[in-house]
Amino acid sequence: MKNITVIGSGTMGNGIAHVFAQYDYQVNLIDVNETQLKKAIETIGKNLDRQVSKGSLTEADKTRTLGNIKTFTSLKEACASADLVVEAASENINIKLDIFRQIDEYTPASCILASNTSSISITKIASVTKRPEQVIGMHFMNPVPVMKLVEVINGYKTSKSVTEAIVTLSKAIGKVPAEANDYAGFIANRILMPMINEAIICLQSGVGTVESIDTVMKLGMAHPMGPLQLADFIGLDVCLAIMNVLYDGLGQDKYAPSPLLVNMVTAGNLGVKSGEGFYKYTPGSKELVVSDRFN
Ligand code: CAA
Repeated sequence: MKNITVIGSGTMGNGIAHVFAQYDYQVNLIDVNETQLKKAIETIGKNLDRQVSKGSLTEADKTRTLGNIKTFTSLKEACASADLVVEAASENINIKLDIFRQIDEYTPASCILASNTSSISITKIASVTKRPEQVIGMHFMNPVPVMKLVEVINGYKTSKSVTEAIVTLSKAIGKVPAEANDYAGFIANRILMPMINEAIICLQSGVGTVESIDTVMKLGMAHPMGPLQLADFIGLDVCLAIMNVLYDGLGQDKYAPSPLLVNMVTAGNLGVKSGEGFYKYTPGSKELVVSDRFN
């Protein structure tokens, strides 16, 4: 595999493009408009600068990496010579199904179609294509350039050779693959999201404050971020969408999303991306300030 098309240039998409390009794959990055793409290339540039300033990459590596990325607004053009497509569009099933129907038409017959979905069924996504054995989940973690894991999700019809190809490719870009089967939330979010949801229930029912809950999990369990800060980082809308997938897919009350999480999403307090969630965020500041709602 040499030519990788990445669909969606948001946080996950630009991180995925960054990593493939850094390892000298030719990346076609596609999004709906030039403004989004320009922003994505700037973000990749800034994240490469971090690596240069830490000494893990040179200026020449940065230039080469950026040179390996081409941007597109036409899906058909971006997919024409792809060996692998990694879809990292919004976490919305109808959007994903629509994209997979199109890329099934636009890519060469041998191309593998992967989704970076955090919880939507790979089997369902594969069912709208004529090549379900070549559809697989390739779930990267945020921030993609830093996090080692790729959760490789086998749909019901994914062939063994496709799984092997994606496992090999994940290793070739410096990641550690872990295989999961296609059940709601796979492994990562089947375990992570109920923990985050429980932390929100603890806050809602007065078991602890934002700070005490996050401190217990950071210092007591050596998590780099407490669950409430992590929820803000992931996006509360994404957390809620994943809890709903778990609740619908597994049908047990223990997966019901916390009413506080539902309220915060309804009110538009989505975490880092909206400027406020459990904490308040000021661009350029790393200081963690608890939202006035929880003081
Ligand atoms: N690109 C490149 N490098 C980056 C980066 C980025 N976007 N973000 C951070 N870094 C680098 C920094 O340069 C720094 O590098 P060194 O170790 O070489 O110094 C390192 O990462 C640590 O960064 P910082 O010093 O800025 O900050 P930190 O120590 O607070 O770490 C963090 C930041 C890596 C995000 C850390 O807090 C962390 O690991 N948090 C948990 C992340 C996590 O759990 N992610 C999974 C979320 S779930 C998900 O993604 C999937 C889903 O389906 C919901």
